[in-house]
Amino acid sequence: MEVIRTKSELKSILQRRRKEQSRIGFVPTMGYLHSGHTSLINEAAAVSDVTVVSIFVNPLQFGEGEDFTTYPRDEDHDQREARKAGADILFLPSPEEMYPSPMRFNLHVQEGADVLCGASRPGHFDGVATVVMKLFQLVTPDAAFFGQKDAQQAALITNMVEDFDIDTRIHVIPTIREEDGLAESSRNVRLLPEEREEAPQIYRILNEGASLAEKDGPWTAESWMQDAFQALSGELDYAEIRSYPSLKREQDRTMIAAAALKYKHVRLIDNVIWNTDQRRETE
Ligand code: PAF
Repeated sequence: MEVIRTKSELKSILQRRRKEQSRIGFVPTMGYLHSGHTSLINEAAAVSDVTVVSIFVNPLQFGEGEDFTTYPRDEDHDQREARKAGADILFLPSPEEMYPSPMRFNLHVQEGADVLCGASRPGHFDGVATVVMKLFQLVTPDAAFFGQKDAQQAALITNMVEDFDIDTRIHVIPTIREEDGLAESSRNVRLLPEEREEAPQIYRILNEGASLAEKDGPWTAESWMQDAFQALSGELDYAEIRSYPSLKREQDRTMIAAAALKYKHVRLIDNVIWNTDQRRETE
């Protein structure tokens, strides 16, 4: 695995590989890699000739008072994990390399960014779209891999690729969970012991919400979920049922039950997506 820190080196290696007709698979991450990330890298490596993983904690997607400075980082661990999972190129740019001067342009997401996580994180998805667009320009991937845990992000990136005619196929990979159901996240290390004990309830409530939605309709299920989450110690940010991937408050073939809870040092998100024709989780 080659570790590359500059955009020019990355571009020239990938140009060479593209001339050799190599298929490029891309996994953008913010590092502190866990089994959720390595499952994305495994998937990419299985269908690509060259698998590129980027690690960049993107300041543009963190709002004021969010955890940009305390976001967990461990480069040695990440290099080992990326190599083991099958990455060929690890792109590790510095903030100065990615943003040599303040951006004069930013992408603004027009639809779907003001609900769920976007409602309490204004500008977050503009920052995500901007950095992913930059990374796509540098890597020009044939395929890019995103986790279902960040379902709203995956939906918006899929829309971005469609709207801008980007020649990259977006793959959304099921959430990897710890044994008790807690979704893998780099931020889980920041849970206090009693919060870690409670956190698997998030997935349990979402699953029950999805079953109830099938029986009694989404809005009854949504209010049941909200009550169930209020009983936890984490502060409820949102618990909603929406259509997926359009993220509208309407019934459709595919639905999502999604929630975010704020604990002392960390905000956790999770979701369950199902097909209403046949209550089958797509994860
Ligand atoms: O999902 C993430 O880790 C980030 O939002 C991403 C896609 C790498 C953009 O910074």
